[in-house]
Amino acid sequence: MFNSISTQANKLLHLTKKNSTASKTKIITITSGKGGVGKSTFTANMAYLLARRGYKIAIVDADIGLANMQVLFDIKPRLTLFDYIEGRNTINEIISSTAYNNLDLVAGKSGYQYANLKNSLVLSRVVDEIKGLNKYDIVLIDTGAGLNEYVQEFLSVSNNILALTTTDPSALTDVYALMKMLSIDKDRLLICFNHTKNYKIGETIANSLVNLAKKNRLNHNFVVKYIGNVSTSANITTTSRLRKLFAHEFINDEITKQLHLVIDSLLENIH
Ligand SMILES: Nc1ncnc2c1ncn2[C@@H]1O[C@H](COP(=O)(O)OP(=O)(O)O)[C@@H](O)[C@H]1O
Ligand SMILES: [Mg+2]
Repeated sequence: MFNSISTQANKLLHLTKKNSTASKTKIITITSGKGGVGKSTFTANMAYLLARRGYKIAIVDADIGLANMQVLFDIKPRLTLFDYIEGRNTINEIISSTAYNNLDLVAGKSGYQYANLKNSLVLSRVVDEIKGLNKYDIVLIDTGAGLNEYVQEFLSVSNNILALTTTDPSALTDVYALMKMLSIDKDRLLICFNHTKNYKIGETIANSLVNLAKKNRLNHNFVVKYIGNVSTSANITTTSRLRKLFAHEFINDEITKQLHLVIDSLLENIH
């Protein structure tokens, strides 16, 4: 048992090393701690705007509880991440195209029994395989709520972690818990606010989180970088309900402009 896990761990390490030098693909994991803050909506729309700018993008729907990317893109993929995880299909087979240029999706599956997994390393292997294709500029991984071991695994294989949060105290508590956890072995966390009225509010709260980290003596090399905010908008709720992307339907809307600013900052800060 231990042998087989360690063999798999070695394979994973090998794969990571091989691909990290060869691949152009950047991996961004989007997380929050708290559910319902707008992660999937934000990820889908950000992916769309990046694709419009000419980047080749793939989204991996890694939400364990509620895989809803295919709903946001209004497609019904025949195969999901789990067909790959269970060894039935190759990585190329589980990648679905969307209605948008330069934008592909690896769909998830709601209610999947993760307990079936012998061990969780297969989850991060999907990331290495996508990198290995060397076809995408950026892969966005949309994780579910909470910091369970599966979310942690996706965080561990990602150089770039973006926390989306609201200013709600419970959401901020969860973001701080995330900072604490990541500060142990990561050097950075990007943070973006949803449902905030302006850039300044997000910046002020991000600074408070940084000060709290200092006060509690979290690793002082760990950097929290604030990259912008998106306001509340009825257009977002409406387009989600209609299974459309607001950034596509409302291309000149204030919200879409805010998201473009987030993307500018994101592109400056990923590696
Ligand atoms: N800035 C916003 N303004 C208005 N509604 C939003 C905004 N961001 C997200 N929503 C809505 O909030 C709900 C939850 O969003 P979702 O992306 O599914 O959250 P999560 O993936 O974090 O669970 C959706 O109905 C979505 O349309
Ligand atoms: Mg979601």
